[in-house]
Amino acid sequence: MATATSPIVDSRLGAAASAFVTSKHQMYIDGKFTSASAGKTFPVYNPATGEEICQVPEGDHVDVDRAVRAARRAFDGGAWPAMSPSKRGQLLYRLADLLEQHTDEFAELESLDNGKPVSIARVADVPLAVDLFRYMSGWATKTMGSTIPLSAGNDFLSYTVREPIGVVAQIIPWNFPLLMAAWKLGPALAVGCTVVLKLAEQTPLTGLRLAQLIEEAGFPAGVVNVLTGFGEACGAPLAAHDLVDKVAFTGSTEVGKLIAKAATGNLKKVTLELGGKSPAIIFPDADMDAAIAGAASAIFFNQGQCCCAGSRLFAHESVFDQVVSGVSDIAGKIKMGEGLDPSTELGPLVSDEQFARVNGFLKSGREQGAKFVAGGKEHGGRGYFVAPTVMSGVKPGMKVVDEEIFGPVVVAQSFASDADLDRLAAQANDSIYGLAASVWTRDISAAHKMARRIKAGTVWVNCHNVFDAALPFGGYKQSGWGREMGAEVLNNYTEVKAVTVKL
Ligand code: NAI
Ligand code: MG
Repeated sequence: MATATSPIVDSRLGAAASAFVTSKHQMYIDGKFTSASAGKTFPVYNPATGEEICQVPEGDHVDVDRAVRAARRAFDGGAWPAMSPSKRGQLLYRLADLLEQHTDEFAELESLDNGKPVSIARVADVPLAVDLFRYMSGWATKTMGSTIPLSAGNDFLSYTVREPIGVVAQIIPWNFPLLMAAWKLGPALAVGCTVVLKLAEQTPLTGLRLAQLIEEAGFPAGVVNVLTGFGEACGAPLAAHDLVDKVAFTGSTEVGKLIAKAATGNLKKVTLELGGKSPAIIFPDADMDAAIAGAASAIFFNQGQCCCAGSRLFAHESVFDQVVSGVSDIAGKIKMGEGLDPSTELGPLVSDEQFARVNGFLKSGREQGAKFVAGGKEHGGRGYFVAPTVMSGVKPGMKVVDEEIFGPVVVAQSFASDADLDRLAAQANDSIYGLAASVWTRDISAAHKMARRIKAGTVWVNCHNVFDAALPFGGYKQSGWGREMGAEVLNNYTEVKAVTVKL
């Protein structure tokens, strides 16, 4: 706990967030808060300043093994399998209540650690996580099988049961640290799995604080284990561990492929939520004000660090100039600043690594002849800030068009007046990814026809970035395997058993 002599980390942090930041940080294994076995720690940075905030344990394969064995014991023989579904649901609901009571604290921690505007974390990240736990708590009592008529004869009774898959490894990224923890933990716990969750090394704070609320809510020891550490030293041994039954990962497509390979040792089940290069497609009959504001927020929300960011903007040639200048105007007016400043609309990128990566894309765009209509300039001074950027004069084959940038950078292309929906869809689908898309039009028929043609797990019409705990989310193509949220995600955490009785 914080002592009277603890430094005040940032005067804009409330007392609770300050106390947490200045406390000793420990991982959560087998119901105990613990340091890394090797005694090592690593720094957590404030991306608005580049300064160190605090140190957290640097977990490695020894800690992974401890956590997996704890989760194994809790699944195979502990209090968890013995607990009624109703009680499991109540624990999840209690966790949601606790989280909600600490909304300001979590929003501040998330902003400090990730850089995102605290005003957004307070109305998006934290409430969506609360809602996810509440929604999933209801499923605890509703993971049901069915009775199945057999053609083999009617002197059989056949039914299916859904059983929890077992010990689940969950590896999450840094763009929505708390929300990604909720997306992963909620459904796994609801159906009765036990979990080892590895937080992103860039943003461990809200996950570690959540572990304290998990303890406070009263989950039995070993049901949830929370590790901090790096990808190769901590994530890789977790994904490969033989006592893990399933691994769920969110992050880069590159690491997603490594996870799939690591899982082959014991053929553990795998779900992956990976990158995207999602199109936002504006038809000439769209409500232009809404479409322009929507296309801007589709890419600039969360500093563009969203797997489903609307990073390829397509506009009909008759409205292309209007759309590009409209989005660029908005880009020029967005208030950039430190996340903890309540008036900030766009914060820094999460890390020096992401800052270098996104600047590399801007350089590549410049070299390959893109026209910068907004942003694009190197940002001087401290912190990892990248101004909202709009590029036109781009075409497929250019890196900025083909690859995920994961920053506040959009590439705009027009489509021809004579392009039919098939050709337009082919343009929109021209990507290795297939996570999401938005279509902006007043033509209800064109909207649904496009929704059919787009190869992506989510299609938004006249909106973008709308999420709900009840809505499945996930990718076609190299955007991933499986779905998160909704009833759909429960399939990722259960095995189906068919039982047949000769009567
Ligand atoms: P990453 O995929 O390396 O990291 C995500 C998580 O995987 C972290 O917890 C990390 O520690 C872990 N990890 C890394 N290597 C691992 C390994 N070999 N085995 C097991 N776990 C491992 O992503 P990174 O490097 O932070 O970002 C790179 C790019 O990935 C971004 O620029 C963006 O394009 C994409 N990305 C996509 C996200 C999404 O929401 N789909 C989220 C974060 C990044
Ligand atoms: Mg990486």
